[in-house]
Amino acid sequence: MSRLIALLPGDGIGPEVVAAARVVLDAVAETFGHDFEFRDGLVGGCAIEATGEALPAATLELCLASEGVLLGAVGGPQWSDPAAPVRPEQGLLALRRALGVYANLRPVATHPALYGASPLKEHLLEGVDILFVRELTGGIYFGAKQRDADGASDVCSYSREEIERVLRLGFELARKRNGRLTSVDKANVLETSRLWREIATRMGRDEFPDVRLEHALVDAAAMQLIQDPRRFDVVVTENMFGDILTDEASVITGSIGMLPSASLAQSGPGLYEPIHGSAPDIAGQGIANPCGTILSAAMLLRHSLGLEDEASAVEQAVQDTVVRGIGTPDVAGRERAVTTQQVAAAVAAALGTRSPARAIA
Ligand code: IPM
Ligand code: MG
Repeated sequence: MSRLIALLPGDGIGPEVVAAARVVLDAVAETFGHDFEFRDGLVGGCAIEATGEALPAATLELCLASEGVLLGAVGGPQWSDPAAPVRPEQGLLALRRALGVYANLRPVATHPALYGASPLKEHLLEGVDILFVRELTGGIYFGAKQRDADGASDVCSYSREEIERVLRLGFELARKRNGRLTSVDKANVLETSRLWREIATRMGRDEFPDVRLEHALVDAAAMQLIQDPRRFDVVVTENMFGDILTDEASVITGSIGMLPSASLAQSGPGLYEPIHGSAPDIAGQGIANPCGTILSAAMLLRHSLGLEDEASAVEQAVQDTVVRGIGTPDVAGRERAVTTQQVAAAVAAALGTRSPARAIA
């Protein structure tokens, strides 16, 4: 039986990086003997052009019928007029909300081959391996918005249940890794953060006494992330803090283009996307780094399709490719750089040489 994967390339470099990930998924299907069915949907600016809506009903239907959704990126200067009635980002936010993907996992790990591309000093980079768990369907992103001639407001609200479910996942993931969890808030100022901290403290004491829980204020956490990134293991935080901290953390690794994310719901399909944006300045040139999307596809294999071996094989193939110095200009430097599709082909080839099926054949 075939397994349906929804592909939403979106805008800017989205179509290039999703096409690259598709090459790798095809290689996974071939080497491991799976039957994936891919169907494309529109989201973001391209959807606005075609239908007037950022998330057309047909796209949502496709996503809900699939086992997992791989998204490229949305947005671009042609749709960024703040007065515009519909914006590409609304498509992404509506999709997250409709799929109920409340937890966004963003792993950030450094790699020796990319130390040179990081703005941080090398001695700070060794062994950095952080898993961010960002709450994704609540908080200020989704609170009531109001605007009149004299001002504007965005409400930040969280229910106990919304906080509990994402913290619980944070604790569980911490338990599976090194038993350390940092909960980031702004409890010295925000009421939502005081509730957050209270729940985290109680949950740590009653349900996860084996996990070492530490609280950090978001401003201090932002500083420590640069000063001593190794001190973090699993970090759980609310929607907007997570948005900001994960962009900050991404530069530590040398290229935001390398980083994947998985957004998980309590049930139903997950949403997988690189953490970079649509990068309209480099779109169409074949120089976008596809690794973030390829690694997101690996997370889709793991979390939505339950294909752990296949997911690890893709991750290993990306590692092999990076170690061999094969990469787009952001990681390999202008002189040695290859194209987006060449990186995908190299990852697909590395997968073939490593897979158990080939080894036996
Ligand atoms: C992200 C992006 C989105 C967000 C935008 C595009 C709405 O920055 O996925 O981090 O803020 O969540
Ligand atoms: Mg962001």
